[in-house]
Amino acid sequence: MTKKVGNKVVVIGTGAVGISYAYSMLNQGHCDDMVLIDLNRKRAEGEARDLRHGMPYAPTPANIFVGGYADCADADIVCICAGVPQRNGETRLDLIDNNLKVFHTIVSEVMASGFNGIFLVATNPVDVLSYATWKFSGLPKERVIGSGTILDSARFRVCLGNEFNVAPVSVDAHMIGEHGDSVIAAWSAAHIAGMPLKQVFEQEANGRARMEKIHQNVRNAAYDIIEAKGSTSFGIGMGLSRISNAILHNQGVVLTVSTLLQGELGQDNVYIGVPAVINRQGAVRVFEIPLDENEAAKFNQSAQLLKSHQQKVDD
Ligand code: LAC
Repeated sequence: MTKKVGNKVVVIGTGAVGISYAYSMLNQGHCDDMVLIDLNRKRAEGEARDLRHGMPYAPTPANIFVGGYADCADADIVCICAGVPQRNGETRLDLIDNNLKVFHTIVSEVMASGFNGIFLVATNPVDVLSYATWKFSGLPKERVIGSGTILDSARFRVCLGNEFNVAPVSVDAHMIGEHGDSVIAAWSAAHIAGMPLKQVFEQEANGRARMEKIHQNVRNAAYDIIEAKGSTSFGIGMGLSRISNAILHNQGVVLTVSTLLQGELGQDNVYIGVPAVINRQGAVRVFEIPLDENEAAKFNQSAQLLKSHQQKVDD
């Protein structure tokens, strides 16, 4: 087992998403130790070696290893990217049966190491697998975080930035609900410098049509990218890195992640994408984003859909 010297992150699954996350973390200098775990050890060794060669050009040097579950014992974050990825024509929920089996094994092995850090779940369907990780691990809900709608919200902000010709970082807008086909655009809470975007669009002749188009573009982005390049990787890798940075540097920022609701937004016992405060303790508080009647109804539908699939975890 590699003894850590600082912030230690373990990446389980070094496919396109896992290695994009690793690359993003190292390029942004977020961790001091990185351990890669994959069934295909040879590939993981190649990825580790390739990443190591970039270290002279990284903001801070990091120790990069290929390891095993024992290396999770003193990890600050274990990020699970392993599992069957979404393929052309598949929904994320189609992946549940295969990936639930994988997760049962992975979470049990990680917990057997004595892991007492934070799980970051990326594998789809991420909301249901975050719920599964919480149930299988027995950790407090704050310490099991799914990537949720972190990437949907980024896509939403890019689209709105293009609409209003501002940098996405200046757009305060969230996608909430399932990271999947029932994802909701929280238009009622979307602003640029306090300007309410829903009202701006609704005052325009074809504003509602443009809002719907933006929502569909965000909702279908992954399908389009998968059709073009076979999978998505860089956007989710950077989103996972953003969440990790918030944890490791105790930032207390609000990010749309998948977390367990226990009454917030009228929902109970469901892992779902909502704005939450992220710090060293994990996802510590849900921000109850203001929704209009239509958005609230769609959020409830999304939550009920996820709860029906969460049932497979409880069976
Ligand atoms: C996507 C994957 C991460 O939306 O589900 O790109």
